[in-house]
Amino acid sequence: MGLLACRVRRYRIKGGSYADIAAHPWRAAIFVKYHQVPGEHFLCGGILISSCWALSAAHCFEEGFSTNQLKIVLGRTSRATPEENEQKFQVKNYTVHQRFDSENFNNDIALLQLKSDAEDCAVETGTVRAACLPMPELQLPDWTECEISGYGKNEEFSPFYSEHLKEGHVRLFPASRCTAQYLENRTVTDSMLCAGDTRNLDDACKGDSGGPLVCVKDDRMDVIGIISWGIGCGRKDIPGVYTNVSRYLDWIQDTMKL
Ligand code: ARG
Repeated sequence: MGLLACRVRRYRIKGGSYADIAAHPWRAAIFVKYHQVPGEHFLCGGILISSCWALSAAHCFEEGFSTNQLKIVLGRTSRATPEENEQKFQVKNYTVHQRFDSENFNNDIALLQLKSDAEDCAVETGTVRAACLPMPELQLPDWTECEISGYGKNEEFSPFYSEHLKEGHVRLFPASRCTAQYLENRTVTDSMLCAGDTRNLDDACKGDSGGPLVCVKDDRMDVIGIISWGIGCGRKDIPGVYTNVSRYLDWIQDTMKL
């Protein structure tokens, strides 16, 4: 399927959380053009899973945008500054999960098809590469360390999104610590998973939605979660909540066939 193979490639930025897109080449940025407002506005993150397909969160599309309002940018480190080697696509089609529940964010998943004249869309480069979908039976041990990335806010109450891509390291919480009891009584379903930094440092925040939670598995970077919701950002002992991608492998396959 396309020129893109998902493969592991890990280099981390030490001593800081700013990151280069080359370390998160599957990370997409989704922009929207509003009818009355000039310019392209950052909407959400996305995750490239093959040459022409990207995952994101359903709640990003609640306004019901038409496909020609959306743009997907790959290979860009700085949120608002175009780069020479970036790859930019229009959206041919997008599907929001039919049972997305905007009350509790259950089924917070969407799939976007990139538009291209050729058979392939994104081309593999040093800054653009797909992440792998997990094998159906994959069970990662509790507390496995995984990675998140995004242009979201640095702080819960910050008025601005981050100008620069950032990365964070979070661990997969046991299911017993991913319940309403730990998340201010909000509904937590088994299609969600929790991850957090046990040192209470790293977490996703507003603007990171739709972006990846990826974990190293054998020789690959697997998309385990989609950044979905949280209570504030990086609060002590409160994990971030992610769409549990392995529950949607059939949905992803079926939607790509449509
Ligand atoms: N819903 C947020 C967004 O729209 C993502 C929040 C994730 N929050 C968290 N603390 N993990 O960008």
